[in-house]
Amino acid sequence: MDTLIYIMNFIRDRNVASITPTSSVGVKKVCNKIDFSQNSLIVEYGPGTGVFSKYLLRQMGEDSRLILIERNRNFNSLLKRNISDPRVVLVHDSCENVLDTLRACKESEADYIISGIPFSFLDHDLKHKILYNTHRALKKGGKFLVYQTCFQTNNHLKVHLQQYFPIVHSKYELANIPPLRTYEAVKV
Ligand SMILES: C[S@@+](CC[C@H](N)C(=O)[O-])C[C@H]1O[C@@H](n2cnc3c(N)ncnc32)[C@H](O)[C@@H]1O
Repeated sequence: MDTLIYIMNFIRDRNVASITPTSSVGVKKVCNKIDFSQNSLIVEYGPGTGVFSKYLLRQMGEDSRLILIERNRNFNSLLKRNISDPRVVLVHDSCENVLDTLRACKESEADYIISGIPFSFLDHDLKHKILYNTHRALKKGGKFLVYQTCFQTNNHLKVHLQQYFPIVHSKYELANIPPLRTYEAVKV
């Protein structure tokens, strides 16, 4: 069902950039960089149908908070219908405005920001605006966790991430179909 929703939205909105949600293996590979034993503020860019969001909510403590920023109207409506949890704030916007979102949520800094948006489709200025604001939105020691399908990217994002984050680990995850390139960028 989710795949059908993806295909319909992919046809109309190139920023969806995928015809299927990330698999549960892919979700776990990205989220294993999160310390769920601590309460934290997690921001997710581009939750789509919510595969990451639902996993995060199962793992997060009661006093943690999850802010979802989704620019696609259809996905936003679907998330509104399907996710009802007092720890969640759903925002219909584009993620370059993350600092405004944090302010509106009366938060200053996030512990983790997770992103599946298609960076390789973005022009240089927008890509760097998102990276700059993401870096500002994280607390020291906070992590920017990015995943891209192999159709969207080679390892090109690493050099851009390194302009903001001195520590960037990147991995190729074959277990997801299609394979994922994952990045863990740490703010120091
Ligand atoms: C490849 S899909 C990933 C969806 C989902 N997280 C998953 O793993 O299955 C990319 C998602 O990012 C959203 N998106 C793209 N650009 C965005 C932006 N600038 N701000 C917020 N969401 C964006 C798309 O609408 C889509 O939901």
